[in-house]
Amino acid sequence: MTQLPPHELSRLEAVAGPDRPLQSLIDRRIAGEPLQYIEGTAAFGPLELDVDPRVLVPRPETEGLFEIASKMMRNPKVIVDLCTGCGALALALKHRFPTASVFATEISEGAVEVAYGNRHKTGLDVYLAVGDLFDPLPAALLGEVDLVVSNPPYVSEADFHTLPRDVQREPKVALVSGPTGLEVIERIGSTVADWLRPGGVVVIEIGEFQGVAASSTFVGIPTVVRQDLAGRDRYVVGVKP
Ligand SMILES: C[S@@+](CC[C@H](N)C(=O)[O-])C[C@H]1O[C@@H](n2cnc3c(N)ncnc32)[C@H](O)[C@@H]1O
Repeated sequence: MTQLPPHELSRLEAVAGPDRPLQSLIDRRIAGEPLQYIEGTAAFGPLELDVDPRVLVPRPETEGLFEIASKMMRNPKVIVDLCTGCGALALALKHRFPTASVFATEISEGAVEVAYGNRHKTGLDVYLAVGDLFDPLPAALLGEVDLVVSNPPYVSEADFHTLPRDVQREPKVALVSGPTGLEVIERIGSTVADWLRPGGVVVIEIGEFQGVAASSTFVGIPTVVRQDLAGRDRYVVGVKP
């Protein structure tokens, strides 16, 4: 019989109840459903956000992105989060910088519905829009943005099938960007300089073997690759001259 690790079992015990028998939750987890979908929530930085199968579960690596970006900012006025999913980065940054205007875009209507729910839940007033990367942003933001963050899809089609079974239960559009895995990063890197003000910062999450290739896609912005807590290349960071 498959056993759950004790920490997972105790988390399921905490959300079980008369309408949600513990054994049915255990069965769902053993069948490969992500733990956070069963719980219905995921911690992200200072926030507890609702998640369901319409969104990627926010990861500790993305909390690292949040910390890097936050430390580089002093009183930002305009922040953009591309590929916001459940709204994690946008909402956490609004929490950290309450006076900033935060704009978040997302291509999946289902994911944006989850982000709206999290906006309501947290009371953090971010602008959410459905659409492709920068497309839904007001043109007035061109050259005015202090910070662009994104955790885009960065897995290749071929690598998708090597992901753990529970990760493959998350939305494919959240994970896979195309044949190389770099497609969405390339599109961000080639246009982000148009949106940043001089001195503006971009921080993008990448796959651990994408540092050199991802950096080379940034046009008009010198970049460095930074590592996550496990020492793996994980972020491209740039400052517009
Ligand atoms: C890796 S998930 C990250 C979600 C969230 N930012 C987080 O860190 O938890 C990538 C998200 O990008 C969205 N997405 C994929 N392609 C996109 C595009 N071209 N424009 C906007 N969003 C996109 C997916 O639907 C998914 O929600």
